[in-house]
Amino acid sequence: MNNFIFQNSTKVYFGKGCVNEYLSSLVKPYSTVMIAYGGGSVKKNGIYDEVAEILKKDGKKTVDFSGIMPNPTYKKVLEGAKSARENDVDIILAIGGGSVMDCCKAVSLAAWYQGDIWEDFWERPGVIDTEPLPLGVIVTATGTGSECNGGAVITNEEKKVKTGRDYPKLNPDFALLDPVYTYSVPEKQMVSGGFDILSHIMETYFSEPNEDNVSDDIMEALMKSVIRNLRAAIKNPKDYTARSNLMWDSTMAENRVIKMGKNCDFECHNIEHQLGAFTNCNHGCGLAAIHPAYYRHIYKYGLPKFVRFAENVWGIARNGRTDEELALAGIDALEDFIKEIGLHSTLRKLGVKDKTELKEIADSCGISKGSFKSMTHSEILDILNECY
Ligand code: NZQ
Ligand code: ZN
Repeated sequence: MNNFIFQNSTKVYFGKGCVNEYLSSLVKPYSTVMIAYGGGSVKKNGIYDEVAEILKKDGKKTVDFSGIMPNPTYKKVLEGAKSARENDVDIILAIGGGSVMDCCKAVSLAAWYQGDIWEDFWERPGVIDTEPLPLGVIVTATGTGSECNGGAVITNEEKKVKTGRDYPKLNPDFALLDPVYTYSVPEKQMVSGGFDILSHIMETYFSEPNEDNVSDDIMEALMKSVIRNLRAAIKNPKDYTARSNLMWDSTMAENRVIKMGKNCDFECHNIEHQLGAFTNCNHGCGLAAIHPAYYRHIYKYGLPKFVRFAENVWGIARNGRTDEELALAGIDALEDFIKEIGLHSTLRKLGVKDKTELKEIADSCGISKGSFKSMTHSEILDILNECY
């Protein structure tokens, strides 16, 4: 196992009714609350009213920051930061999925920072030596695990770059996770979020070191849980057990626990982020389009782990197969699952206009150092062509 230091500063409140039970005491020290949300789902499903009512009863001054779009832009971050400054906001309450949480993390930093946060912290990694505004999150869609890490993925439209950075200082102070809040997520978004969870786990699992490692064992259990509970939630969107498991799977995949002692790959995420920068496609859908092709490119370099994936995650028996055949059967099973949950797609369908755009996307992708096989830009282009 690699050496590591582990800390996670976010306090999690999980379960039915947790917002009603705990929000009031969590915002007690603050007087002006920014209520941040996306395109309006929280107004339709009643979550906004529930939160606003609690804050009103407590006599808080509130400021709305609405319209945070999927794949949040740097421009939107600056809009939120300006509002936070002008209204003397002393805590941000992000209500939504990954996009709202990520945007609010960046707003919490940008609100009082003197420089340009894109240049200083996203274009290249930086060191945060100021105190961001306090941030609390209420999760309404599972997938990114953003509630329990310092990660924020921001798109700079002018530069055509979508970049994620993880700064522990941007971990939310608290996260309220009520699985019932996810009942209204449309099926397409639920499965794309579910695949995002699976992707986060696979991107960590398929990396060195490969010796006996508790993180790999935890990840196999998590992957099986995602597969089983996604199937159950598709059957019955109001299955509380399934929604609860998916919600905690999502947090577990990205709260840094499983990354301990691992190199981590995340090349598929690098590729998807640039695909998103060019097409604005849905994150989970982009990942699902890329993963099988990417794994067929790298499986030979991590063969024992791909064999283990086939046997332990998909339950495929050897039945006289060679290691290579078994590894490929595991990747086929992953692809079949993507089809089963309705996420199978091509880059053309996801918005790539023509093949000439693929080279620009490939050339702008970051290269992961933790992969079983470090990619070249021309190999990424091959993968993109196969997925087109
Ligand atoms: O905007 P509204 O109207 O709220 O609708 C949203 C949005 O259209 C809807 N939704 C959310 N909760 C709902 C709901 N609809 C009905 N009922 C509810 N309860 O879902 C749609 C998608 O929301 P979004 O937040 O964009 O989805 P997701 O959670 O998948 O977040 C995606 C973003 O997170 C980034 C992605 O790149 C992308 O920008 N990521 C963040 C990570 C992190 N911070 O650690 C890691 C990930 O790998 C990922 O890159
Ligand atoms: Zn992701």
